[in-house]
Amino acid sequence: MTAEYVNPDYVPEPEKVNTKRGLEGSVIDTTSVSKVNSETNSLVYRGYPVQELAENCRFEEVAYLLYKGELPTALQLSEFEKLERSTRDITKDCLTVIKMLPKKCHPMDAIRTGVSFLGCEDERIWDSSPAVNYDKAVKLLAKIPTMIAADYRFKKGLDFIPPRSDLSIAENFFNMCFGKVPEGEIVKAFDVSLVLYAEHSFNASTFATRVITSTESDLYSATVGGIGALKGPLHGGANEQVMHMMLEIADPAKAEKWMLDALAAKRKVMGFGHRVYKKGDSRVPTMKKYAQKMADMTGQQTWMQIYEGLEKVMADKKKIYPNLDFPAGPAYYMMGFEIDFFTPIFVMARTVGWSSHIMEQTANNRIIRPLSEYIGAAQRSVKPISERK
Ligand code: COA
Repeated sequence: MTAEYVNPDYVPEPEKVNTKRGLEGSVIDTTSVSKVNSETNSLVYRGYPVQELAENCRFEEVAYLLYKGELPTALQLSEFEKLERSTRDITKDCLTVIKMLPKKCHPMDAIRTGVSFLGCEDERIWDSSPAVNYDKAVKLLAKIPTMIAADYRFKKGLDFIPPRSDLSIAENFFNMCFGKVPEGEIVKAFDVSLVLYAEHSFNASTFATRVITSTESDLYSATVGGIGALKGPLHGGANEQVMHMMLEIADPAKAEKWMLDALAAKRKVMGFGHRVYKKGDSRVPTMKKYAQKMADMTGQQTWMQIYEGLEKVMADKKKIYPNLDFPAGPAYYMMGFEIDFFTPIFVMARTVGWSSHIMEQTANNRIIRPLSEYIGAAQRSVKPISERK
């Protein structure tokens, strides 16, 4: 019997005929973290439109907002940043674990392992009280960039650059990867991407973290599950695939034919489409603006020209629009990051959304345990092995 086996005599059970594949349209629980409104193409974090946050707040302020529910005052931000900046170091053992990983292992697998190791090091792993979970959330916010940058350096055969406590999260990440902080416009574009990637309601990875949390497992285990879900190309992995696709197309003059061929072959084009947004992703105009700034600064207009070409054909032919991964991919490429690190950068940001949902789920928990509709073999009796064919 194969996994695809369907019982020919299967009769749908009346109470389960409304099975929703992919949980499409299902409302699973309430949340006060963020709201995606597909009708108005809008996304709000704790009531604030994400575009306004991206233009006016640093990632650290948005992290505080998502964790605590309110934007910080100057004093609260300074205390929060003091805590985050003093938590960035990782232990020698953790660094060794990252260094020992096979060179070919994808950076998403490396950061998944790194977060798992942090859980092993934490003596309070089983304590999910609000205060301890908040400490763990800040720990992940502070240490995930350090682990990603360490992996970045080791994969290139370079020495680890320790975190600096006089830099913002975005500046420090550039410094840990490249040994210097770039121009303010590049740091701002990167910071904007972190704000836009930080949270997106009950997407697949966040839902995975909530499922794991609902069993009363710990915040690290839930985050490891979130990273596993985010890695897939239908979710966060799309930002890497977008850049591979643009490199394959290479010439803006070829974009239109490339897209027509892909649609004719019924291929899924990475960076397009969304389960919730059907008229366009609310985060795209802001990220596209900053990707264009990167093109203007680095003189790499090719990627934005390919962007326009692909976007136009997809809109004309299918009325399907880019999602955030479409501008984020080329933006990160123009900032100088290796493609394999695009989805780990997404993790740096989304850890904030995950932790906020983990804390919300913990505060009002009920185990998440849906039903399935059984379509396999009808009930039968076990035969002795000698009688089986
Ligand atoms: N390229 C081509 N066609 C697409 C498409 C894409 N990226 N996204 C959706 N479609 C088409 C499907 O082929 C389908 O057409 P059909 O009705 O003629 O068969 C229709 O749009 C509905 O798509 P479906 O796959 O059922 O939507 P979904 O809600 O299950 O999937 C995504 C949503 C995001 C997984 C899907 O759009 C996708 O795979 N996108 C590419 C990966 C990506 O960018 N992921 C990042 C998401 S933020």
